[in-house]
Amino acid sequence: MKISILKELRSDETRVAASPETVKKFVDLGFNISIEKNAGACASFSDSEYKAAGASIRASAAATIKGADVVLKVQRPMIAGEKKNELAAFSKGQILICQMNVLSDSKFVLAMAKAGITGYAMELMPRITRAQSMDILSSQSNLAGYKAVLDSTIHYGRALPMMMTAAGTVPPARIFVMGVGVAGLQAIATAKRLGSIVTATDVRPATKEQVESLGGKFIAVENQEFRKAQTAGGYAKEMSADYKRKQSRLISDHITKQDIVICTALIPGRPAPKLVSDAMLKIMKPGSVVIDLAVEAGGNCAGSKLGQIIKYNGVTIVGYDNVPGRLPEEASKLFSRNLFNFLAPFFDKKMNKLVFDPKDEIIEGVKVTENGAVVHPTLKRKLNRKSSSRKTSSNIKRKKIVPAAKQKTISKRQVRRSKNVVKGA
Ligand code: NAI
Repeated sequence: MKISILKELRSDETRVAASPETVKKFVDLGFNISIEKNAGACASFSDSEYKAAGASIRASAAATIKGADVVLKVQRPMIAGEKKNELAAFSKGQILICQMNVLSDSKFVLAMAKAGITGYAMELMPRITRAQSMDILSSQSNLAGYKAVLDSTIHYGRALPMMMTAAGTVPPARIFVMGVGVAGLQAIATAKRLGSIVTATDVRPATKEQVESLGGKFIAVENQEFRKAQTAGGYAKEMSADYKRKQSRLISDHITKQDIVICTALIPGRPAPKLVSDAMLKIMKPGSVVIDLAVEAGGNCAGSKLGQIIKYNGVTIVGYDNVPGRLPEEASKLFSRNLFNFLAPFFDKKMNKLVFDPKDEIIEGVKVTENGAVVHPTLKRKLNRKSSSRKTSSNIKRKKIVPAAKQKTISKRQVRRSKNVVKGA
């Protein structure tokens, strides 16, 4: 079986989907590995290291993909209308495994289905014990949480730990972490290691104990809604308007005393919750820093802009995109291991091929497209909802031009349809 690894083409992407270590592991299992020239250059992996691990180096993406059973990437290939149509080089039936952000990118999902590619979206990996070593969100968020604290120190004009010097005492910095998932926990641990006073907030009750076990102080509106805010998948729910108001009041009081705010709060498939408002930014201390790790999902902070560092009322707001990519070597090593750990259990040595059991919880969780169709249940529902709401709105538009005599029967049908849409939603 042939696995191909492509060079990432997006300008902010420094990672690569296989390291020399995982190439060797794949080769030892019996795979043929092709990798595009210079694919690992930004992550400090040279072509000669890949060659020594047993890979063949190919001069172009087309040559790398040719004849591949499986293509590995970090980010999903670009499609028609983007900088380059990478998807055009793929052939029907090939398997693509990478991060696809499918919950918010149905355009790509449909393009992949149309091209006849079997797509596995690694960000959909179920949060079960067996899949922990395959979880790209965890491995990358962990690095992002660490790097966020280091990035904040560059923009912060004071020190983090308390220092008693002959010239006077340097007070410890106060760091507030918003969102205590994988990134938030690593940010708390890193901030504590650097000597700062750490507080943190989340809407999931389980996080309280986790914050305290790392030496931080937990701050949250702990009401009835808070006690039910975690989904079965371990993620946060979107909170009610009433909860958001209470949370905002609590945060407003707290944020005025903070030096650094690290924002990491996310809700899968939805825009990031807005937690730091414009009004809060105005009352924050001059010289304080906000690092918004949620910026790619719209941001937790009102003023953050993707890929930009902004000064607002004396506060520096940092919106780096692809923060794991700011640690390219480590991020690539972990990402590559996640991909290897995903594929290896499905490799049948006797048959010398990958056999994906469609009933396996992991495969069910990550498989997005197959045989020209979208097969993931959540995405199928989402796409159906979209197309039926399009139909309904086009019917309503059409109503304006139907002759008056026919209007009665048509509007009855419309009412029935719109009821179905509401039911299905
Ligand atoms: P995430 O990246 O989706 O979100 C980050 C954090 O933001 C979460 O803790 C979430 O509760 C919080 N958040 C959302 N809305 C908020 C709001 N309005 N205000 C404050 N905070 C808000 O989460 P991540 O990092 O992916 O982790 C989610 C959970 O999954 C965690 O409990 C983590 O420990 C668990 N997990 C389990 C794994 C497994 O069992 N295999 C693997 C990785 C994570």
